[in-house]
Amino acid sequence: MFTSANKGEGKTFCVSNIAKEYAKQGKKVLLVDLDLHRPRLSQTIAPMEQGGLMNAVRDMSSVDNQILTLKEENLFFLPAGPLPSNPLEIVSSGSLLPLFDKLKKMFDLIFIDTPPVRIVSDARMIATLCDGVVLIVRSGVTKLNEVEEAKTHIENTGVPIIGGILNGQSYTRKEKDTHAYY
Ligand SMILES: Nc1ncnc2c1ncn2[C@@H]1O[C@H](COP(=O)(O)OP(=O)(O)O)[C@@H](O)[C@H]1O
Ligand SMILES: [Mg+2]
Repeated sequence: MFTSANKGEGKTFCVSNIAKEYAKQGKKVLLVDLDLHRPRLSQTIAPMEQGGLMNAVRDMSSVDNQILTLKEENLFFLPAGPLPSNPLEIVSSGSLLPLFDKLKKMFDLIFIDTPPVRIVSDARMIATLCDGVVLIVRSGVTKLNEVEEAKTHIENTGVPIIGGILNGQSYTRKEKDTHAYY
């Protein structure tokens, strides 16, 4: 799963782009919108969609019908679906576990978009479903103490941080010509 300290740091942007890249490489990829507070991916990709993850939680046997095929080959999308009044209750209820067990058997890779880890507790619960967490930091925006706080929240889940992204970093010509870019 992908998360960050605050909103607007590029979680949704990064997770969808990276999911697309893996699909291009031939992996069967599922992108999941588990930001049940601001489901931007669902609103962008499938605004009129009736289905989604929340329906699959209520009726596991319907999971195949809740997954959308996208125009990109190998890329599939599970929208959030009808939003619950208390998202945290859903993500901490244990009902996502059997659903993700099933999804893991259906796809090579699953990328999950989540809300900011410092702001709401959802991402900490969602992390326990995942093999690893990617932490996004927005260059020049996310404060050091916020990164540390986000990192601590994730570490407390016991799920490894498998990557970090410094998002939105711009480089001068000189930096690009030297090793700074790398
Ligand atoms: N590297 C980037 N380059 C250009 N635009 C970006 C980049 N990262 C994020 N954005 C834009 O910034 C805004 C916030 O990003 P978003 O992914 O929605 O943040 P979050 O999911 O963390 O709340 C969006 O309009 C998104 O398109
Ligand atoms: Mg987002």
